[in-house]
Amino acid sequence: MKSFFAVASLFLLIDAHVLSRADQGTDPAVLNFALTLEHFENAFYRQGLQNFSEYDFKCADFPPWVRGRFQQISEHEQTHVDFLTTALKAAGATPVEPCTYNFPYTDPKSFVDLSAAFETVGSSAYTGAAALIENKDYLTAAGTILVVEARHSSWVDSSVKEQNAWSGPFEVPLDPNAVFTIASSFITACPESNPPLPAKANPSLAVAADARPGQEAALTFEDSGNSSSLFLSFLTSNGPASSPITINGDQKTATIPESVKGTVFAFVTNNNETVSVNNTVAGPALIMFPFGPDGKLLN
Ligand SMILES: *[C@@H]1O[C@H](CO)[C@@H](O)[C@H](O)[C@H]1NC(C)=O
Ligand SMILES: *[C@@H]1O[C@H](CO)[C@@H](O)[C@H](O)[C@H]1NC(C)=O
Ligand SMILES: *[C@@H]1O[C@H](CO)[C@@H](O)[C@H](O)[C@H]1NC(C)=O
Ligand SMILES: *[C@@H]1O[C@H](CO)[C@@H](O)[C@H](O)[C@H]1NC(C)=O
Repeated sequence: MKSFFAVASLFLLIDAHVLSRADQGTDPAVLNFALTLEHFENAFYRQGLQNFSEYDFKCADFPPWVRGRFQQISEHEQTHVDFLTTALKAAGATPVEPCTYNFPYTDPKSFVDLSAAFETVGSSAYTGAAALIENKDYLTAAGTILVVEARHSSWVDSSVKEQNAWSGPFEVPLDPNAVFTIASSFITACPESNPPLPAKANPSLAVAADARPGQEAALTFEDSGNSSSLFLSFLTSNGPASSPITINGDQKTATIPESVKGTVFAFVTNNNETVSVNNTVAGPALIMFPFGPDGKLLN
């Protein structure tokens, strides 16, 4: 009942009759992209909470309130799935079905770390998709979801991980291709009957786990050899930053700019202008440089 009322009351924000079925433009595709992400998060939390009991969280040194809050988050994601599915059907569109996933956590701690990453990506995905939504009622509905994803993200980062609740004054807007690049690395297969998404994964980028601002880091990506110079370019909550990539045989490295901190997105670009779909060669990779109340990097 609870989730029915949540869907019913939120649904008042979207008057499906405002749209004639022939004139919805790209909104159904954008809503299906959002639904793809909600299915992803919904599966992640449902599976993780099935895998790990109250006792497992306790043995992993988490306080007793942590799992119950994750349960609430899990219910939100299910409600978002129901809501978007209902909205798409009301608009005469076919909602996407869930994919199968491979979430690489091994214990409650790595589950929490993945949750922190996914909630940040979710917040950036909704922020980036805002400009693609044409109907203002959909925009308001998407805003109500965006803010709750951001609350989840802050709760995981600050209450559970005892790190920074935010990364800076602005959320990073990610375009759908960038979002799908990250999400698709955890997706094994999607139903062939799903309508096509307005997103295509970029070539992947991995940045060495020991990467630190101000230090050189090893990079892994496919170099097509088309560009004479490549850059490791960041989108961060504190603005863009970039540094040249050095390629030496198989070794690719770049110095992580001193200025980056918090949760950041790294791309390989073929110029050092701000990252866009036009200069992206690979990525993004999501990297976390958590910082303390004094602004200094932790660990
Ligand atoms: C969690 O559950 C899924 C689905 O049952 C299973 O495939 C996976 O191996 C489990 N992971 C852990 C760490 O228990
Ligand atoms: C790079 O060059 C290869 C081979 O010439 C070509 O197939 C590919 O499309 C090029 N990629 C880009 C991004 O221009
Ligand atoms: C971009 O790269 C050019 C040369 O490759 C350099 O002169 C310029 O300072 C760089 N700009 C920024 C903002 O890093
Ligand atoms: C990308 O390039 C196209 C074609 O030149 C241009 O219309 C568009 O504004 C560019 N987008 C960005 C984000 O720079």
